[in-house]
Amino acid sequence: MEQKKSLIILGIDTSCDDTCIAILKVKNFDILSNIVSSQVKLHKKYGGVWPYLAKREHQKNLPIVFKEALRQAQGKQKFEKPNLIAVTVGPGLEPCLWTGVNFAKELAQKLNLPIIPVNHIEAHILSNFVNKKLQTINYKIKTNLFPALCLVVSGGHTQLILMKKVGKYKIIGETRDDAAGECFDKTARILGLGYPGGPAIEAEAAKLKTKNYQLITNLPRPMIRQKNYDFSFSGLKTAVLYDFKNKPRNVRTSKKYKIEMAKEIQQAVIDVLIKKTIKAAKDFNARSIILGGGVTANQELRKQFNYKLKTINYKLNLLVPSKNLCTDNASMVTMSGYFNRKKATTFENISVNANLKI
Ligand code: KG4
Ligand code: ZN
Repeated sequence: MEQKKSLIILGIDTSCDDTCIAILKVKNFDILSNIVSSQVKLHKKYGGVWPYLAKREHQKNLPIVFKEALRQAQGKQKFEKPNLIAVTVGPGLEPCLWTGVNFAKELAQKLNLPIIPVNHIEAHILSNFVNKKLQTINYKIKTNLFPALCLVVSGGHTQLILMKKVGKYKIIGETRDDAAGECFDKTARILGLGYPGGPAIEAEAAKLKTKNYQLITNLPRPMIRQKNYDFSFSGLKTAVLYDFKNKPRNVRTSKKYKIEMAKEIQQAVIDVLIKKTIKAAKDFNARSIILGGGVTANQELRKQFNYKLKTINYKLNLLVPSKNLCTDNASMVTMSGYFNRKKATTFENISVNANLKI
């Protein structure tokens, strides 16, 4: 008990293009610091993440981000060093994962600390238990939330996961090709809207104020009527590409075209995600839907999920992370570290698995 009271967990995530470090004080479940150093500017010109460029940047950023995370945390709470390190070991981009893992190993060796290996997907799910003020909530997570149906949608993943309780998960469906966030990133690039594509498409779509507009193009809703729980978004991207190529230059470069296409791409993704998630929740008698991952920062997705759940004849709780915690961060890694603290081991036993499953 005494040990739990003074437990300070350091979380590290470098699974993609954000260098993230956070510090959790377990006693009152306070996240003392949560630093995210974004590489967006670097990858913007390529329209996507270059793993080896990202790796180099992580190596440069990690010591700086670590110092800042410590400085902020020690400003709020007196402590000498963390007692535990939690680090994302997968899934993610392999060269990027290794930078965070190697940093964690060196630190663990130097400070003589155990390491907890963290699954990035589980961390996204657990980000629901941190509020926007960075206090962790419901850490004794209510059992009446479960079973829950989790939808994790990010730049690298689109998965439907049945969650019996914290630590007990089963993947029931996933994308067969591109992830939903990847689809936003690639279609935004086709339309010349910039990177990352999700927020760019959301901002462009929001420019369409009228409800009675005549769409230039209707896009497909891939696999929406199929009985399985899988997704496919590469066809949607191809449909956008063909449409763009086949439109006369003056049309495809017009503001109207970009705005309407952004709206339609966003709606096509939302329609599929909502339909399949609610179907799965019903089929598995879930009590809650839990969202996580960068795409769930999308305001329209959050709004429409809420609205849809009010119109169905079936009671489902909806858990959505705070907007600032949908995309990659390490506060979710400290949470996962806390729940998985029994998995703590020595640094020699820690390795990366880029394709790690939940
Ligand atoms: O979870 P995340 O930060 O990193 C991965 O684990 O992949 O997710 C990043 C993804 C990107 O594809 C980005 O375009 C998408 O999340 N994203 C959004 C929004 N904000 C980020 N997609 C739709 N709407 C948003 N507001
Ligand atoms: Zn992520």
